[in-house]
Amino acid sequence: MNILLTGGLGYIGSHLALGLLKKQNVNLTIVDNLSNSKLSVKNKIRFISSKNFKFKKLDLKNKNSLQKLFKKGKFDLVFHLAGSKSVKESQIDPKKYYENNILGAINLLNSMIECNVKDIIFSSTATVYGSKKINCYSENFSREPVNTYGLTKKIIEDLLIDLDRKKKIKSVILRYFNPAGCHASGLLGENPEGTPNNLYPYIIKIIKGDLDFLKVFGNNYKTKDGTGARDYIHIQDLVDAHLNCIQFVKKKSGIFNIGTGKPYTVLDIINSFQKHCNFKINYNFYPRREGDIDIYYNKISKAKKILGWSAKRGLKEISQSTFKFAIKSK
Ligand SMILES: NC(=O)c1ccc[n+]([C@@H]2O[C@H](COP(=O)([O-])OP(=O)(O)OC[C@H]3O[C@@H](n4cnc5c(N)ncnc54)[C@H](O)[C@@H]3O)[C@@H](O)[C@H]2O)c1
Repeated sequence: MNILLTGGLGYIGSHLALGLLKKQNVNLTIVDNLSNSKLSVKNKIRFISSKNFKFKKLDLKNKNSLQKLFKKGKFDLVFHLAGSKSVKESQIDPKKYYENNILGAINLLNSMIECNVKDIIFSSTATVYGSKKINCYSENFSREPVNTYGLTKKIIEDLLIDLDRKKKIKSVILRYFNPAGCHASGLLGENPEGTPNNLYPYIIKIIKGDLDFLKVFGNNYKTKDGTGARDYIHIQDLVDAHLNCIQFVKKKSGIFNIGTGKPYTVLDIINSFQKHCNFKINYNFYPRREGDIDIYYNKISKAKKILGWSAKRGLKEISQSTFKFAIKSK
């Protein structure tokens, strides 16, 4: 099977590449424009997997090079992960998000249609649901994103739903909750340049000694210890969910939340590093951030019932793999 993976040198893409390379009969092609990743990740994927794959530095906004790639590639399936993903940046520079995420997706889908490639698995996000006063989210909830990042994902979802209705392309839309954790080798993980936007990349910087303490925003949320609670999904479980979609998308389209169904607070996470890695994270409380909600997590029943997938790992594996990656990348 010839598979195209967009954004394959990024945090999730690199782990998914390893999952795909473990499968038999997969010829993998990765494209990435390196806007949020490093070329060295390509060599790490080769080193860990001991397998060959094709890599092309390509920007999805470049319609012509994408068309050329599709004419040669004879792809059977596309995993579409490439995109910009910072909620904060999307509010500051919305045009970048419309261009990169939406134009990129339109070019990709046009190339698929021209070359008769029928199946796609798309990385969406629980951010599409918006800030509801609900804790537990299921797939049939209304989508009311409250930022441009979430809105671009909703628009791409709508496009995929329309293309499915027109019988042009079948799609699996995966709405991730909070991906976390790193590869067991300690060689791959999420390590953005500059100020991180998410909790775990912050913690990585603390373990590496680049930051002294964690800023915990808010201690009066309606949770057991007052800090916000989220559904953190181990990257390897996330990869397994994608692999389970390969057979499914050959027959049908579908939309699935991908999370564990178990919310953990910021203090749970801090304590898990002490418990499982013997590492103390210093922290200070700061005021709540605008728009943050008390708690949200996934209602897991749909992916379990239809894809036969549920998360097997928890905070222990997330903390230990994150710690290993941080120490190795010091
Ligand atoms: N990490 C999360 O918390 C999270 C949560 C929900 C959804 N997602 C979605 O999952 C996908 C992957 O996320 P990630 O965490 O691996 O992000 P990432 O930034 O680490 O990876 C995305 C990759 O896509 C590449 N890219 C961006 N624009 C491109 C373009 N126009 N052409 C080619 N390559 C391009 C980047 O260089 C990067 O390597 C994204 O679509 C993101 O929106 C991520």
